[in-house]
Amino acid sequence: MEPLNLLVMPGSTRTGSLNCQLARFAATRARESGALVEEFNLRSLELPVYDGDIEAATGVPESVHRLRSAISRADAVLLVTPEYNGFPTPLVINAFDWMSRIQATASTPSGLVATANKPVGLMAASPGAGGALRSMNFLRQYLQMAFAMLVVPQQYALGIAHEAFDEAGSLKDARAVRSVDTVLQALAKLATAVRAGQ
Ligand SMILES: Cc1cc2nc3c(=O)[nH]c(=O)nc-3n(C[C@H](O)[C@H](O)[C@H](O)COP(=O)(O)O)c2cc1C
Repeated sequence: MEPLNLLVMPGSTRTGSLNCQLARFAATRARESGALVEEFNLRSLELPVYDGDIEAATGVPESVHRLRSAISRADAVLLVTPEYNGFPTPLVINAFDWMSRIQATASTPSGLVATANKPVGLMAASPGAGGALRSMNFLRQYLQMAFAMLVVPQQYALGIAHEAFDEAGSLKDARAVRSVDTVLQALAKLATAVRAGQ
């Protein structure tokens, strides 16, 4: 069987980001189970905050097409986001909002066609005990309702994340590792079924 193409996207890109660490760990676990993983850095898109005047004057920034293409060629997406005051980060929402403005051309799909029926898994990390759980609830609604993505029911919120990793970047707690694997396996199972049905 063809290996699964997994796109892993952290919702924070700051130096030392706990969500980057969790995303990197999940990417490693996915590679170990045979997936082809692409890690996507949303900061590299250098997007302005969405503004209709910018769109009217210069169109959707060219860099957003890289996000659309990465999602198009992936079998599944893993988003690993912190929460800011209970919400997903502006980095994620802004990039997806811009992507929703990409119109189809004769040779490329619209932003919303690229996401439709695309399996997506959610993880989150926080130094707090809740592990940014609330951000995933909003993301689930946002990605399903507006982007028609297929969000797997399994998700993982890593609390006290600043104490969770060893020096090699692995999760120290075996239960935490199992929780990461549970989301990855559910995502792989759904993505395999969706790919078989295409
Ligand atoms: C504006 C802002 C709001 C935050 N709100 C929350 C919150 O609602 N819940 C939470 O668990 N942590 C919250 N935090 C703390 C973040 O979880 C913490 O900074 C975390 O390390 C960010 O993720 P990162 O390490 O991947 O960058 C907030 C941080 C910022 C900067």
